[in-house]
Amino acid sequence: MSRVLIIGAGGVGRVVAHKCAQNGEVFSHITLASRTLSKCEEIRDEIEKMQNVRIDTEQVDADNVEELVRLIKKVDPYMVINVALPYQDLTIMDACLLTGVHYLDTANYEHPDSAKFEYKEQWAKDGDFKAKNLMALLGSGFDPGVTNVFCAYALKHYFDEIHYIDILDCNAGDHGYAFATNFNPEINIREVNSKGRYWENGEWKETEPMEIKMVWDYPQIGPKDSYLLYHEEEESLVKNIKGLKRIRFWMTFSQSYLTHLKVLDNIGLTRIDPIEVDGCKVVPLHVVKALLPDPASLGPRTKGKTNIGVVCEGVKNGERKKIYIYNICDHQEAYKEVCAQCVSYTTGVPAMIGAKLMCEGKWMEPGTINMEQLDPDPFMEELNRQGLPWHIIEMDPDATFEVK
Ligand SMILES: NC(=O)c1ccc[n+]([C@@H]2O[C@H](COP(=O)([O-])OP(=O)(O)OC[C@H]3O[C@@H](n4cnc5c(N)ncnc54)[C@H](OP(=O)(O)O)[C@@H]3O)[C@@H](O)[C@H]2O)c1
Repeated sequence: MSRVLIIGAGGVGRVVAHKCAQNGEVFSHITLASRTLSKCEEIRDEIEKMQNVRIDTEQVDADNVEELVRLIKKVDPYMVINVALPYQDLTIMDACLLTGVHYLDTANYEHPDSAKFEYKEQWAKDGDFKAKNLMALLGSGFDPGVTNVFCAYALKHYFDEIHYIDILDCNAGDHGYAFATNFNPEINIREVNSKGRYWENGEWKETEPMEIKMVWDYPQIGPKDSYLLYHEEEESLVKNIKGLKRIRFWMTFSQSYLTHLKVLDNIGLTRIDPIEVDGCKVVPLHVVKALLPDPASLGPRTKGKTNIGVVCEGVKNGERKKIYIYNICDHQEAYKEVCAQCVSYTTGVPAMIGAKLMCEGKWMEPGTINMEQLDPDPFMEELNRQGLPWHIIEMDPDATFEVK
C-alpha cells in the first residue's frame, strides 16, 4: 500500500488520478497537485462521484524546487508521478532526490525557449538516483512508454535480434472542430513543427517537417496518411536494442490539420520567441494556445479510435521474422470510464501502470531507467487488465500494411 503524489491536473493527470483511485489496493493515498488548485478540486470531486474514492489536492508551482520539496515532505509519498509539462521534469527530479522519493514521468525534458527534447539532462542524473537508491522511470506514457515495452516484449518472446522498428501512431478521432490539438497545444505544435529525424545504419538522418509520407492501413481504422517525425523513444531504443539497423516514427495528420498549421506557421503564430505588441511582450504560440480549445474539453465530443503500435522485423533462429503489436482505444469508451479522450487515456493508464509496478516492487531499479530496460511481461499483463488490451499479428516478413 503506497502513498502517491501526482503533479499536473491536465488531461493526463485526470486519467492518472482516476486509474490510481481504481487501484486502491496499491495506491492507499492519492494527492493531486498542480499550478491551478481549482482544476485539482474539479478532478477530486469527479473521482469521488465516479469512483467513490476521496483524494487530496494541493497547489504547487513545479518550476520551484523549494516549493516542491515542502509539498513532498508534507505529503510523504512513496513516489511522484510527474504529468505536468516537460519543462518541469528537472525540477521535480531534483525535488525527488532531495526528499528521497521515487520519480516517474511521461515525456522527456524540454527547455521552454528551445523546441528540442532529449534525454541528456535527465540521464545525467542517473548517478544521483543510483547513489540514493532511487528509481526515475522515464517516459511511462504510450509513446514513449508502451511502444518501448512492445519492443522489449517483441525482443524477449519473438526475436534473437531486431533490425527494423517502425512506430505507428494513428489518431482517427473526430472532435468536430476545424483545428484543435489532442494534448497540450504548445507541446504538440512544437513537436510537429520540428524537423523529422530517423536512425539508420548507425547515424541520425534529418528531414524537413512532414517531408516523408506513407499511407498505412491501420487495423480497425483503415488507410491513413502517416508522416515521419522524430519522437523521443527513438533515442533510448537506439541505445538499448542491440543490433538495430533502422528506427522510424510515423504519425497520422489530416490534410485540414496540416493546412491550418501551415497558415499559423506562415504568419508567425507558431513562434516561441517573445514579440512586442502594444508595449507588451507576448509569445505568439502562447496566444494560439489560449485561443484553441482546451484538450481536456475535447473528451465529450471526440468520436472514433486511436491505433498505436510497433512493427518489428529481425531474425529468430537464423530466420527472418516480422510482427505488428498494437492497441486500439475508443475515444467514447475512454470518456465513459474516466471523462477523458484517448490521447489522455493512452498516456495516463501506462503512467499508472508504471507507478503500480514500482510500488509493488515488480519494477524497481535504481537510476534513470527507460521502459525497454525492464521486464516487459508484468507491464503487458497490466495493459490487458487496465483498459489498453493489445494484439499481435505475425506477418510474412515481406508483407506490409503500407498502401502502395
Ligand atoms: N508519452 C506519451 O504518450 C504522452 C502523450 C501525451 C502527453 N504526454 C505528456 O503528458 C504531460 C501532460 O500532458 P497533458 O495533455 O495532460 O497537458 P495539459 O492538459 O496541458 O496539463 C498539464 C498540467 O500541468 C500543469 N502545470 C504546468 N506547469 C506547471 C507548473 N509550473 N507547476 C505545476 N503544474 C503545472 C498545468 O497546470 P495549469 O492547468 O495551471 O496550466 C496542467 O494542469 C506532458 O508532459 C505531455 O508531454 C505524453
